[in-house]
Amino acid sequence: MNDMTPTREQREAKLEGMGCKRKRVEDIRFTQGKGNYVDDVKLPGMLHGDFVRSPHAHARVKSINPEEALKVPGVLAVITAETLKTVNLAWMPTLAGDVQMVLADGKVLFQNQEVAFVVATDRYAADDGINKVVVEYEPLPPLMDPFKAMDPDAPVLREDLAGKTTGAHGPRKHHNHIFEWTVGDKDLTDAAFRNAEVSIKEMISYHRTHPSPLETCQCVCSFDKIKGELTIWGTFQAPHVIRTVVALIAKIPEHKIHVISPDIGGGFGNKVGAYPGYICAAVASIVTGKPVKWVEDRIENLTATSFARDYHMTTEIAATKAGKVTGLRVHVLADHGAFDACADPSKWPAGFFNIVTGSYDFPTAHLSVDGIYTNKAPGGVAYRCSFRVTEAAYCIERGMDILAQKLGMDPAELRLKNFIKPEQFPYHSALGWEYDSGDYHTAMRKMMESVDYVGLRLEQAEKRAAFKRGETREIMGLGVSFFTEIVGAGPSKNCDILGIAMFDSCEIRMHPTGAGIARVGTKSQGQGHETTWAQIIASEIGIPADDIMIEEGNTDTAPYGLGTYGSRSTPVAGAAIAMAARKIKAKAQMIAAYKLEVHEGDLEWDIDGFRVKGLPEKSMSMKDICWAAYNSVPPGMEPGLEAVSYYDPPNMTYPFGAYICVMDIDVDTGVYKVRRFYALDDCGTRINPMIIEGQVHGGLTEAFAIAMGQEIRYDDEGNVVTGSFMDFFMPTAVETPHWETDFTVTPSPHHPIGAKGVGESPNVGGVPAFSNAVNDAFSFLGSTHIQMPHDFWRNWRAAKNLGVFAA
Ligand code: CDP
Repeated sequence: MNDMTPTREQREAKLEGMGCKRKRVEDIRFTQGKGNYVDDVKLPGMLHGDFVRSPHAHARVKSINPEEALKVPGVLAVITAETLKTVNLAWMPTLAGDVQMVLADGKVLFQNQEVAFVVATDRYAADDGINKVVVEYEPLPPLMDPFKAMDPDAPVLREDLAGKTTGAHGPRKHHNHIFEWTVGDKDLTDAAFRNAEVSIKEMISYHRTHPSPLETCQCVCSFDKIKGELTIWGTFQAPHVIRTVVALIAKIPEHKIHVISPDIGGGFGNKVGAYPGYICAAVASIVTGKPVKWVEDRIENLTATSFARDYHMTTEIAATKAGKVTGLRVHVLADHGAFDACADPSKWPAGFFNIVTGSYDFPTAHLSVDGIYTNKAPGGVAYRCSFRVTEAAYCIERGMDILAQKLGMDPAELRLKNFIKPEQFPYHSALGWEYDSGDYHTAMRKMMESVDYVGLRLEQAEKRAAFKRGETREIMGLGVSFFTEIVGAGPSKNCDILGIAMFDSCEIRMHPTGAGIARVGTKSQGQGHETTWAQIIASEIGIPADDIMIEEGNTDTAPYGLGTYGSRSTPVAGAAIAMAARKIKAKAQMIAAYKLEVHEGDLEWDIDGFRVKGLPEKSMSMKDICWAAYNSVPPGMEPGLEAVSYYDPPNMTYPFGAYICVMDIDVDTGVYKVRRFYALDDCGTRINPMIIEGQVHGGLTEAFAIAMGQEIRYDDEGNVVTGSFMDFFMPTAVETPHWETDFTVTPSPHHPIGAKGVGESPNVGGVPAFSNAVNDAFSFLGSTHIQMPHDFWRNWRAAKNLGVFAA
């Protein structure tokens, strides 16, 4: 070896493979304002569409008069449900098996529902046009309280379902009922409660909120009448699914539909489903023969597309006096708004809520969920969450704290006592899941030691005593949260969307000079896939990550994939990438053996190429193998070096984490201060620690927002009262606490590289940590459970209700 020969460490470092804090390659364009978003798409002759929306939450639409609008200069057309009926598109199917009005058909069912679509030469003319469309409404009583939805005299919302006693998920019990979903052993669970030494029961609500990505939902549709082809640029988290949905409902052959998701400015579940704007822009383009752009504004985004949560969870835990849990019983009232448009895999009407037994070894559990209609916007999307796992984690983590309080036990101690033990994995939960791997005790103890949990509890005890003596008006809360996530939808045995199994895919093509391109079925919205996918390939085939280009989001070039949401990209597509790379490597080995004139079995892999076992100087780098693949492959072998993998995972992955929030609350003002927030995450093998940290920071910030104020709230008449960023809490750097992050590594045994997802984890674990901190702070004053969100005013009110102010 001469001085110029790189060392093994240098060769390894040059790859920037898995485990490397590689800088995000996409940031080169993003930080210079050179991203290419949907609104950057400007086509010759492009028209603009905008919606007339309903001011009422529930009303009959008596007439729509477009006459004056059509006189506005630049306005070309006003599309209504009657127009759409001529092409059979007045209603569209939802991902949850329901149907949804594209434009108001006889009735409106929520405020800001789409009533008519005005098409004009520019956005301003379209906006002027919508103000001139005259709509005559006859207001009807709105149904806003989910607990009154199934009252006998509750107003009938969905007249289209009149007389239908069965829906997509079985029998309906009432005209506003969507489905009932039950899981678990009812008799065994009821018996556990009959025999329980101790039990708790609490109605725990997870309020309605919204993913509110920086970039709203938008699209440009361009129909080529000559070729009969439709091209759609859109903010789609799952572009292939959109292509299939368009083919099915618009009856355009799928190969004549081109869906392109360019750069996306955040998704968080908001951009999974299909919205009326997409249908209207496509129809408008087909009718006018010109490209049509539709861009939601912020108020439209917050009020009409895809709410999240709105689960009301009656939670019961049975336990022994010593604190061993013996049963869990949960009933959920799920408010789905006007249409059931939840973005869940087909068989799961309440998503993966049956992960609600959490990290604990419950011998038995029973869950029932009633989905109901109200006069609110549809959606039910997984806002930085894997299909309702966030609601489930909040439910069980509040429940465990309430049980600890009743038992007079420390919440951390109660959790340690009930955790699934390392030797129980793979663990079969009482509600039907098989957890792949975990070491909960180690993670929890690491968290407790890192923050000096014992010391914090002592400090809290002293502060409580001082409060009782009247020496301070500040109360201190410790919010412990331990979550188990379920990500990686999913195995085809239990997950599909519209009948398409939820696999994912990767195609790698290596070029002669040793650089290559990988196309993947996922679509990054900020998660950094262009950086991390190349790192997986670099480690697998020994080509530097910088020499691999990653492409996603174009249905003409990427292999069919189910997209990015619910932290499924790493568990599913990440596996497909590793498997495609291994196919490349297997062919490369054959080529190297031929070139080195040895048997394949005589070769061993060495960082960036193959070498002959026992003769390390006889070797061939992957770069040289790429060249050979194009000029001297073994006789009978096809030239070229490319591979594709469609990966159907055998199971989900189950990341987990231990979080703690230390909070002080001033009872006189309700003002809180997050003194410390520590988050330990275990996502198995870590591809890029820096990106993981970024994901955790972002997810914690969203968790902070949701727990401490972010809410979509309605008044009794059905008006959205939090429909702009003036009212909807969107934390900036000023409000956001400092985050401390940590990790353990428990690889997934079934994933090719042992990786689990991470993107959703901080939201799943963060919300209960904040809420438990607030509740823990108030608990010594006699409070059991205070509903989220915990904004200043509600904290002040909680203090008032607990009688802390002198009369
Ligand atoms: O599906 P989504 O991309 O939202 O979530 P994810 O699979 O959790 O990945 C989010 C980002 O974190 C991606 O860039 C992943 O490659 C990265 N990640 C990682 O570096 N190591 C892991 N074990 C999991 C995710």
